[in-house]
Amino acid sequence: MFLLIVLLFCFTIFAFVVTNKGAGEALAGKGYKEYRLGDYNTWLQKRVNKNWPRIRSCLQDSQICKHLIEQGATPLGQFNKETLSALQSGCCKPPDECKFTYVTPTNWTGTAGSTNPDCTAWSNDQKVLCYNCQSCKAGLLDNIKSDWKKEAILNIIVLVFLIIVYSIGCCAFRNNREDNAWKRYP
Ligand SMILES: *[C@@H]1O[C@H](CO)[C@@H](O)[C@H](O)[C@H]1NC(C)=O
Repeated sequence: MFLLIVLLFCFTIFAFVVTNKGAGEALAGKGYKEYRLGDYNTWLQKRVNKNWPRIRSCLQDSQICKHLIEQGATPLGQFNKETLSALQSGCCKPPDECKFTYVTPTNWTGTAGSTNPDCTAWSNDQKVLCYNCQSCKAGLLDNIKSDWKKEAILNIIVLVFLIIVYSIGCCAFRNNREDNAWKRYP
């Protein structure tokens, strides 16, 4: 049980360290936030980079961009007010700084106004969109981050409980031994 407490404690510390950094950036006049891979923990970045081909095919099969694709030609003013999830913001539209011309949420024209590699990674093809973008990885990490944070908080509650049970158990064991010792050697 002591080993379990130590392991859980180490994992909890690790989870807090890993989820310490990174948050979406609010943009002036937009309802959605944008996400940068560089803002997140480097260990998580490496993991997500290494496994990206597999994660990407999963995201492409999922329905995360469906809502935006089906929305069609919403007026730009209305699209700007939308609150998008981290994955939708990162994977389904080009980053704001590319300054593309809006047609629909998943169809943008014009030449990139930024050297951000995500601007060249973007494609209007519904199978491609921004799934190759760094912002898409950042959106995923933002999800992982909030899940791990919740997990770490739950861990602390479990840890406190385990430590209480362990302390009571230890006390009882010691008292019992002292009692027996006293009985055996009066
Ligand atoms: C994007 O919009 C342009 C202009 O309306 C249109 O010609 C093009 O077919 C659209 N592309 C996609 C992938 O929907």
